[in-house]
Amino acid sequence: MDVEEVKERAGPREFSPADDMPEEYRKAATRMIQFHANSEIMGAYLERPFVRQSPSLERKLAFSAKVQDEIGHGQLLYRAAESLGVKTRDEMLEELANGEGKFLNCFHYPMDSWHETPMIAFFVDGAAMRRQATLKKTSWEPYAHAMDKVCFEEGFHVKHGEHILAELAQGSKKDQEKLQEAFDEWWPRILQFFGPTDDKSTHHDFAADVGLKQMSNDELRNAFLNAYVPKARKYGLEIPEYPRIEENDDGTWKVREDDLDWDEFFTVAKNDYEGSHEQIGKRHDTQEAVEWVRDVLDDHEQRPMGGAGPAAAD
Ligand SMILES: [Fe+2]
Ligand SMILES: [Fe+2]
Repeated sequence: MDVEEVKERAGPREFSPADDMPEEYRKAATRMIQFHANSEIMGAYLERPFVRQSPSLERKLAFSAKVQDEIGHGQLLYRAAESLGVKTRDEMLEELANGEGKFLNCFHYPMDSWHETPMIAFFVDGAAMRRQATLKKTSWEPYAHAMDKVCFEEGFHVKHGEHILAELAQGSKKDQEKLQEAFDEWWPRILQFFGPTDDKSTHHDFAADVGLKQMSNDELRNAFLNAYVPKARKYGLEIPEYPRIEENDDGTWKVREDDLDWDEFFTVAKNDYEGSHEQIGKRHDTQEAVEWVRDVLDDHEQRPMGGAGPAAAD
């Protein structure tokens, strides 16, 4: 199939490994899904310390389930990316550990306090839900299929984040202040979650033309604002003065894009930010620490049938 035919046929779940896709499509889809998979893994790493630091058993269980879900999302997505035949899952994991793999801006920043946790679990996962819901209609079928499970589980993540947010918002004055501080710090990053404005985004046109992407960055950001500005206010959070949020005539919201720090965003996007090195370094160390498990599994797979393995004992 050539690119023109792909553009003509592009529609929800239109293409699968049974189709002979052109290289340009396979590379663009791999780039997009690998980025998504990496982001699931790096998000989980940011939240992992809170399995230990949760203030109650219920929170610990919920955090532990969420972190496992996110790692699972990453694995599903690496498989979906692998089905394009461009890179293997091992290659993508290797790229993530050595700093070549790219991932979402929000997961490059450290998260140190409990009051920051709803910034990821409620706002960032809420933003992710916006985008992921549209990806159920992406043109690469294995990607859309993975989104069915991912979106189902993200619904739980957002509820879990909202529950912590509600608890802190009704807590002591100190809790409320710390929550507002966390919100002030994370809000601009969350608004940048959707990526650069449409005219600065280099990959958008092709991805949209071949049905990989269903909505533009700006459309998604505006939809997020319309849903989450009222939610933030409901929990007593004040929207920071900058970046300026403006109300449209119809009661919807939009952000003054020039108020956002796009230099920082692009530094982060290249994994060049100070926090990036720290997060990637931790990922690298963890990958190395479990290398022996991979070796054992590889060894087991390569053992001939009928040898001294479990097969012989059957
Ligand atoms: Fe996820
Ligand atoms: Fe999530």
